[in-house]
Amino acid sequence: MTSNAELFSAAQAVIPGGVDSPVRAYGSVGGVPRFIERAQGPWIWDAEGTRYVDLVCTWGPALLGHAHPEVVSAVQEAASKGLSFGAPTRTETELADAIIERMTPVEKVRFVSTGTEATMTAVRLARGATGRDVIIKFAGNYHGHSDALLAAAGSGVATAGLPGSAGVPAASTADTIVVDYNDVTALEEVFSERGDQIAAVIVESCPANMGVVPPEPGFNAAIRRLTKEHGTLMITDEVLTGFRCSASGFWGLQQRSGEDFAPDIFTFGKVVGGGMPLAALGGRAEIMDLLAPTGPVYQAGTLSGNPLATVAGVKTLHLADAGVYQRLDSRSEQWRGELASALDAAGVSYRLQNAGNLFSVFLGVEEPVRNYDDSKAQTAEAYTAFFHAMLEAGINLPPSCFEAWFLSDAHDDETFEVFRKALPKAAEAAAKIIG
Ligand SMILES: Cc1ncc(COP(=O)(O)O)c(C=O)c1O
Repeated sequence: MTSNAELFSAAQAVIPGGVDSPVRAYGSVGGVPRFIERAQGPWIWDAEGTRYVDLVCTWGPALLGHAHPEVVSAVQEAASKGLSFGAPTRTETELADAIIERMTPVEKVRFVSTGTEATMTAVRLARGATGRDVIIKFAGNYHGHSDALLAAAGSGVATAGLPGSAGVPAASTADTIVVDYNDVTALEEVFSERGDQIAAVIVESCPANMGVVPPEPGFNAAIRRLTKEHGTLMITDEVLTGFRCSASGFWGLQQRSGEDFAPDIFTFGKVVGGGMPLAALGGRAEIMDLLAPTGPVYQAGTLSGNPLATVAGVKTLHLADAGVYQRLDSRSEQWRGELASALDAAGVSYRLQNAGNLFSVFLGVEEPVRNYDDSKAQTAEAYTAFFHAMLEAGINLPPSCFEAWFLSDAHDDETFEVFRKALPKAAEAAAKIIG
């Protein structure tokens, strides 16, 4: 049997850092990343045959659990008919219909392969639609790794301890204004100075890349009000929260709580592709039709709307009915409650924040975490100790204190027991660091 350590060193010889996405390298928590052989339901198995309860869920997509049999067989059937055509297929329309049904402000959808492409295209579309260049983003909000959006970008760059990224020309971010999250006054000031130059405000529907930091009541509605007043488009990034926090994402939760607003463009990813490389942007027809071939804003992709990915998305959204979200919400409450009890018992100061079933914990913090600075004040070393104790006990947590934790519909009583038993020792380990 080849060990994780041997696989990691072989990978490091030929792949920078041994990984294809930095957080996977365990840079901030240290140790050897687990090389995954297979996953089923709430479980993953590494190369050494060790089984873990998975709370990463492929960073969100595995809403139904890993390798849901109906999704897998739909993909297998599609694969037998061809892997990619570079031509339109009926499942693209089916998936667009399923999205439109859930997200009422969306009239048309364009499929791409990654969340990065979706947000990059949304920004280009907003610039094309308004004839303006400036965009506003919020500190600690992550929208993928396109140049213009890699400023104060939350989890990935925060985990790596980078201020931004080398290789991004100053000119690429010169038109990106970064505003503190949850700060309406700061946003108003920027609009009063430069309102007629601003093409778009892009915001995570509920930020989950600096830990879960919900918008304060009225924050998203204030963005909508200001953008409308100034002829600016509002891009709501639901790549992470879409079809996870509810059938209509975090936006749907806000609607239900009475915060009624319609962004101009939504971006989606993760759950919408059911674990396959697929993402999308959607909005009102008059805006979406500005994309080529109907409009002048160019966007394209060899694998866009790939038949296996769209089939996985259609099947996943079809299976993600109201029962799935109800079960996920109550599971999440149960798991959060147990986490809180263990941390309380160990005397650890912490904040546990959630957006529906999505949650994360900030160790060594007592006040609400409202923005990126608050999030960076958490005791990262305490999370490292907590993470390793949990891993040792068979729980796979995100290897960074800036990431959200993901449950799936497959997490059950058996996995909860593993989690419950692992907690006391991990909480003690965190307590030792915080002192
Ligand atoms: C809110 C948000 N937007 C965009 C992205 C980028 O998506 P991708 O990693 O598919 O490029 C992510 C990825 O985590 C995300 O969380």
